[in-house]
Amino acid sequence: MAKQLELPLEGCEALSTPLNTSSTFADNMKLPVHRWFRYSAGFSAMWVESLITQASKQGNVTVLDPFAGSGTTLLVSEKLGAQCYGVEAHPFIVRVARAKLLYKTDVDSYREHILHILKVADNIQGCVQDYPKLIRKCFKDSSLECLDKLRKAYLQLADNSPQSELAWLTLVAILRHVSHVGTAPWQYVLPNKSKQSYLEPIVAFTLMAETIASDMITTNAKSVTAQIIQSDARYCQGVPDNKFNLVITSPPYANNYDYADATRLEMCFLQEISGWGDLQTAARQYLIRSCSQHVTSKNVNLDEVLASRELEAIQGAITEVCYKLSQERLLHGGKKNYHLMIACYFLDMAKVWIALRRVCQANAKICFVIGDSAPYGIYIPVIEWLGLLACSAGFKSFEFKKIRDRNVKWKNRKHQVPLCEGYLWVDG
Ligand SMILES: C[S@@+](CC[C@H](N)C(=O)[O-])C[C@H]1O[C@@H](n2cnc3c(N)ncnc32)[C@H](O)[C@@H]1O
Repeated sequence: MAKQLELPLEGCEALSTPLNTSSTFADNMKLPVHRWFRYSAGFSAMWVESLITQASKQGNVTVLDPFAGSGTTLLVSEKLGAQCYGVEAHPFIVRVARAKLLYKTDVDSYREHILHILKVADNIQGCVQDYPKLIRKCFKDSSLECLDKLRKAYLQLADNSPQSELAWLTLVAILRHVSHVGTAPWQYVLPNKSKQSYLEPIVAFTLMAETIASDMITTNAKSVTAQIIQSDARYCQGVPDNKFNLVITSPPYANNYDYADATRLEMCFLQEISGWGDLQTAARQYLIRSCSQHVTSKNVNLDEVLASRELEAIQGAITEVCYKLSQERLLHGGKKNYHLMIACYFLDMAKVWIALRRVCQANAKICFVIGDSAPYGIYIPVIEWLGLLACSAGFKSFEFKKIRDRNVKWKNRKHQVPLCEGYLWVDG
């Protein structure tokens, strides 16, 4: 049975965030604009707000988020009048962030565009045949027919205008509400698990449009405009030199989470990909190598990666760990390439620090929300190694503040190694 979309409070002001939810997106679903797309990989807007507010007491703040995701840091910076740049490499996610930043668009032109889409959709014959298998499993035919009409109507009217980009976001934001199967964002999609309640597409689309319109009305245009660049944090192309004194970000963790796969449902629906096999070309190739699907012995020469100049500060330790992982994998059915993933992850992150050194001012403060990891139960001191790589890129010092323990509760844990998550503060 379909149910009403639960729409969180309007105009909720950010006051304080409990420490242990500062690394999660959940509370953002109560905030205007942030709530337009649930990006589970995101962090708390309220926490970002408290950092920028604190830093602003000491003078002018220029903010950078090199892993900008769905735009949390950018939106908060605009709200507080702080200059901000964001870099995001995932083509779908960067479009989400860009669309959110269009909240200043004239609300009447957005509403008109939505009504126009609904009218055009009414005269389109919906068709389910052309959709990839995953989409056929995730939506009932009747829902998919209706979504197809909306997609085709959106495409007919698409003109790159702000209202058209906002309409795109309205459509992609309802997909998981409309699906009758498990589409829990963190576990990608679970087509074999059915949900008790879900929404009818036109109802979801109309409700989402109302939410967006009401947030546009209550969120005033600000004196500064944040810049989001589709680019690679390893090089920060397009980001000015020596500009930023505050970096707030959360990079991918070395924990095998596949950011490309996280938006497979949406990209399949949009027919940008036809399935998992297309994700490498469509998204993964641009991202930090933090999952084993990203690396194979064909595309990575482990010795060469480990010998990279950028890894000098941790060379002995990382070589030993990668060797252990290369032995351990032989004892496991999946024989995952964690040894390659770990080597490539740290090489990529070393490049990020070098790029950050170029774009940051001499006295910059950098906060990474980050956790450690233990593939195949072999502990990787992610925090210490990232700190050492930051210093070897030219930053002065680092310290870590733990937010919470991880991997201590679940019965079905893959290993018993205690892990944690927190803030890596780098000064320099
Ligand atoms: C933990 S998420 C950040 C979420 C963000 N804080 C938010 O609130 O939405 C990490 C992001 O890094 C992006 N990413 C991965 N590799 C990247 C790269 N090489 N350059 C820029 N962004 C990248 C991923 O696509 C993902 O959106």
